[in-house]
Amino acid sequence: MSVLERITSEDAIALEKKYGAQNYHPLPVVLSRGEGVFVWDVEGKKYYDFLSAYSAMNQGHCHPKIIAALKQQAENLTLTSRAFYNDMLGIYEKYVTEFFGFDKVLPMNTGAEAVETAIKLARKWGYEKKGIHSNQAKIIVCQNNFHGRTITIISASNDPIATENFGPYTPGIISIRYNDINALREVLQDENVAAFLVEPIQGEAGVYVPDDDYIKEAYSLCKEKNVLFIADEVQTGIARTGRLLASCGNCSCADKNCSGTPEVKPDILILGKAISGGVLPVSAVLANDDIMEVIRPGNHGSTFGGNPLSCAVAMAALEVVREERLAENADYLGQIFRDRMEGLIEKTSLVNLVRGKGLLNAIVINDTEDSSTAWDICMALKENGLLAKPTHGNIIRFAPPLVMTEEEMLDCISIIEKTLMEFDN
Ligand SMILES: Cc1ncc(COP(=O)(O)O)c(C=O)c1O
Repeated sequence: MSVLERITSEDAIALEKKYGAQNYHPLPVVLSRGEGVFVWDVEGKKYYDFLSAYSAMNQGHCHPKIIAALKQQAENLTLTSRAFYNDMLGIYEKYVTEFFGFDKVLPMNTGAEAVETAIKLARKWGYEKKGIHSNQAKIIVCQNNFHGRTITIISASNDPIATENFGPYTPGIISIRYNDINALREVLQDENVAAFLVEPIQGEAGVYVPDDDYIKEAYSLCKEKNVLFIADEVQTGIARTGRLLASCGNCSCADKNCSGTPEVKPDILILGKAISGGVLPVSAVLANDDIMEVIRPGNHGSTFGGNPLSCAVAMAALEVVREERLAENADYLGQIFRDRMEGLIEKTSLVNLVRGKGLLNAIVINDTEDSSTAWDICMALKENGLLAKPTHGNIIRFAPPLVMTEEEMLDCISIIEKTLMEFDN
């Protein structure tokens, strides 16, 4: 068979099973095309994408503006490495730092790389600026976090599936309960703490939204103790939660960037996923000069980080966020979605709880974590033309592209309601 020949779903799944490491457990659907909020499988069936590649596709599939930028740049220059300058990186660095209101950016590729970068940056700042004794720096993280898959990052995880038999782990990590401000206050007494690394909403854990003031209070406690506040907004950032950043809290700036006076201005901001509209792996670590200046030539880097193709794509993707007012749309549609899902709690005993912000939402299925109910519901949703995936057993995350219209959202809500009601009978 020629590699360019179209294959059936069954064959594609069999190939992955035979030749690929089995590190994922995908829903059995094989996609071959995407446009806006829709994807199509190899047999031509159309689905609403209600996962958005874990919030990477905020701008929708194959957004014409982003794809045009990709094509144009791909014909000129794709990669130089950082051994030389290129004519796109500086322009992108100016654009992205102004967009988010920071002095400097350190460009990387994946979310995990950006988290690693932020931890390195915080440790070095801890030694050189805060005066922590050599090799004593500590980073505070929260239980049930998800920051990626590298050894240092899983050293900060308490998920046995992610950690078991991958030791020895990286030292210097303190883990506290999420959304527990007193736990944070207590560990901040330790003078060797360089940074607090936190997701403003825990996405992978099952869309846990902390108390209203948690992020704001955590930020000011860090300020009091000269500890860096690192926001991992790889999943929550870039309009997903109805604000440009989830760490903006409830401030009313959904329609413009947050470089003015946000409630919380992370010392280090980590972005990934939607910064490229899901077109290329692009991530970014943003900080002001007093922090970023500890990084000097040779301290850190990546062959692909800051490549001209990524720069062109990321600028187009961020322009789309602003031009199409995606934060406002997420805020508006998210409210409709949660209201209707909450109505379901009364109609079916299958749904226990609905939570989320903007278009990052989850429903908790009334069954045990090790049950297959949430998976079976996702299979039924697939049959009815909507793709979503359980996270942590009995929780289903709903995160469609932010370019969705109200009409499409109402259609999706009907599919979800119909599927759940059928399932209940
Ligand atoms: C909050 C958060 N941080 C980091 C990552 C890791 O990103 P990547 O998969 O691009 O390495 C993820 C991925 O889901 C994430 O949700």
